[in-house]
Amino acid sequence: MVTIEQYTPKKSAQVAPLKVQPEQVQFTISDVLSVIEQLDDHEHPHLILDDGVVVGFFLLDMNYLSNQAFDVEIDSHSAALGIRALLIDETFQGRGIATQALQALPDYLKRAYSEKTAAYLTVNCRNVAAYQCYLKAGFQDTGNLYHGGPVGPQYIMTLSW
Ligand SMILES: CC(C)(COP(=O)(O)OP(=O)(O)OC[C@H]1O[C@@H](n2cnc3c(N)ncnc32)[C@H](O)[C@@H]1OP(=O)(O)O)[C@@H](O)C(=O)NCCC(=O)NCCS
Repeated sequence: MVTIEQYTPKKSAQVAPLKVQPEQVQFTISDVLSVIEQLDDHEHPHLILDDGVVVGFFLLDMNYLSNQAFDVEIDSHSAALGIRALLIDETFQGRGIATQALQALPDYLKRAYSEKTAAYLTVNCRNVAAYQCYLKAGFQDTGNLYHGGPVGPQYIMTLSW
């Protein structure tokens, strides 16, 4: 069963080996623990587990829309959070784990972040696997592009609940 939970240092040994394929590093982060060490208060690290084993990672960013220059119409910036740095360890990719984690996310967010009603993320236009995965999990393409990333334009996607 795929579950998500907030990161705690007790899990650092399980997080350290998380790794994506070399050609995927451009789309995400490569050293999860060093990223965790540098987070600001508004960036909340999370783990994806498969039957209790840590297999993936993502960040929830409480200030996402105020920090990004997004050309999207939204009623309330404070009701939206951002999803960043999602990855599934290379050994566990292609088994439906990211899809299940993203499908579990709204229920988790309703419990843990009850003031939030929508999530946003960006995905590089060349990252077909991730784009398809987000669509499969129910995210919608806003139709707008974000041009602020280091490796080319990104689709802006959203999910609300
Ligand atoms: C993108 C990523 C998180 C997907 O995780 P995953 O657990 O392997 O994804 P799933 O097994 O749930 O796949 C869901 C859908 O994504 C698409 N997909 C996943 N891997 C794919 C691949 N290698 N090639 C093409 N499509 C792929 C498929 O549409 C798949 O559905 P299907 O199995 O019914 O065909 C994972 O590949 C990853 O960590 N990539 C590197 C980091 C990254 O790009 N993160 C996203 C940043 S925005």
